Amino acid sequence: MVEKQRGVTIWLTGLSGAGKTTICQFLETELRRTGYKIEVVDGDVVRQNLSKGLTFSKEDRNENIRRIGFVAQLITRNNVIVLVSVISPYRAIREEVKGRIGDFIEVYVNAPLEICEQRDVKGLYKKARTGEIKNFTGIDDLYEIPLEPDVECKTNQESISQSANKILSKLEELGYTN
Ligand code: PPS
Ligand code: MG
Repeated sequence: MVEKQRGVTIWLTGLSGAGKTTICQFLETELRRTGYKIEVVDGDVVRQNLSKGLTFSKEDRNENIRRIGFVAQLITRNNVIVLVSVISPYRAIREEVKGRIGDFIEVYVNAPLEICEQRDVKGLYKKARTGEIKNFTGIDDLYEIPLEPDVECKTNQESISQSANKILSKLEELGYTN
């Protein structure tokens, strides 16, 4: 156990397949091993429970993000590190959540669309291209890139541990870990 841990939300935004979930899993393991209290909130999981039934319209995505932001805020104020991995394509709502939580690190998980599409881990890009899925981020739906992220992970140029280490360094630099 780490004494006097400070809470913070680490918010990973980026395209589907950019590596958000993978980086979070790596960070979760690392931080737990060091003795930090951690909670993980992943978009795919939230959409099966807290946000079940929401679509991928702009309104529903923003509603999803608002709910996740609310939960992250509650956990953060209890001095836990919260790892959030959601596409969160709209800048305004990301800013709104950031403002509300305060202790907030925005991480842009940046992989070019071509790379995410090549990876196509879940086969969703293929479905988006054939029109089987509509409003797919990056294909026929918007992604507004973060203008001043606290950390940028270029997952097509760096390893998972390199990306995760950038985030761990930022946590330390800002005094959330030591
Ligand atoms: S959002 O925009 O923040 O509300 O999205 P999120 O809750 O993170 O959910 C993203 C995951 O849902 C799957 N999926 C889609 N993504 C984008 N656009 C469309 N239309 C879509 N339909 C399903 C996909 O598996 C996303 O997971 P990740 O981990 O990002 O690949
Ligand atoms: Mg994911």
